[in-house]
Amino acid sequence: NLYLLTCRYYIPQFKPHNRATDVPYMVKVLVAGAAGGIGQPLSLLLKQNLPAGSTLALFDVVNVIGVGEDLSHINTHVKLEVHLGDLKNPSNTTELDKATQNLDLAVIPAGVPRKPGMTRDDLFKVNAGIVKGLVESIAKNSPKALIAIITNPVNSTVPAAAEILKKAGVYDPKRLFGVSTLDIVRAQTFIGQLKGQNPAEVKVHVIGGHSPETMLPILSSVSGISFSEEETSSLSTKIKEAGTAVVNAKDGMGSATLSMAYAGARFALGLVKALNGESGIIEDSYVDTSSTDLGVSFLAVPVEFGKNGIEKIHPLPQMNESEKKQLAELIPIVQKNIDTGLEFAKSA
Ligand code: NAI
Repeated sequence: NLYLLTCRYYIPQFKPHNRATDVPYMVKVLVAGAAGGIGQPLSLLLKQNLPAGSTLALFDVVNVIGVGEDLSHINTHVKLEVHLGDLKNPSNTTELDKATQNLDLAVIPAGVPRKPGMTRDDLFKVNAGIVKGLVESIAKNSPKALIAIITNPVNSTVPAAAEILKKAGVYDPKRLFGVSTLDIVRAQTFIGQLKGQNPAEVKVHVIGGHSPETMLPILSSVSGISFSEEETSSLSTKIKEAGTAVVNAKDGMGSATLSMAYAGARFALGLVKALNGESGIIEDSYVDTSSTDLGVSFLAVPVEFGKNGIEKIHPLPQMNESEKKQLAELIPIVQKNIDTGLEFAKSA
């Protein structure tokens, strides 16, 4: 163990991509959209927390050189690569193709956020186009990379990405994730506040999709905590509408960025730990569920991470009758969102 620690923390010249050994694995992680409201704090958290010797690649079409220079002064042993894309000529992918070389994990928060009065679906056309360009480059240069999509509407951008990866001939359903972790983080926080418990220790699942109509917090099976009918109803609404509460409070200046960066880092670092051989890491995530009997091809479900992405899709948490009914009602809505993503990718 001392040997492992030594390698991890004190031997800078140790080469990455050494999966054959037990030595903690140094990864290359891309943040695409790194100069944005989410991208900046997410990159900070990854610069702080990735395994020593790892590489953090930053890509954006604006301002990323400054963000990279700023982050480069932080005294962690995580190397930075900074790539500024061509905003005026998106077909020039020279810098993007450099950023996507040799990736273990790509985290994508690139795109336009909501303004008051907008739904996540209103963002689809612009954001799907952005995700398409990024995923095509990842498919070409790092076909085995794990891809975690934050860009909204997640219910549609993830199926669109799957179709783009299929077109490129490299789709592996175990390697593509929609990040809905902020919904769980919010549920933990609100439950912890209501019941006077440490939010970090609250065990709750939020399944379904990532929009108020499709998100389903499973409050009947939060371990060790029970709720009255009134509490269940108000908590559910609070969790589902939390994103809109931030959009309204920011009053035109965007949507959740800091809490999303926190949630995105938790998700990304969980995947990195699993790449490093750590087991038992489970997050709810919006993934390809066509191999399950859920009757829908994408859904946020409990997923266990492993060395190849998804190690296992766990059974859904225990639900009461009301939650089962809500799940049945939300699945057709998720299916519509999936179809939107697939149609875009097929015709794009
Ligand atoms: P932002 O506008 O502050 O940042 C987006 C960044 O993406 C900008 O720096 C922009 O230059 C960059 N970008 C645009 N086109 C690009 C391209 N082709 N390649 C690389 N970068 C590109 O937006 P913010 O607040 O960071 O939100 C980003 C996305 O995350 C939005 O779609 C938002 O709806 C979504 N989001 C998702 C959440 C979730 O729970 N999954 C929660 C909150 C936001």
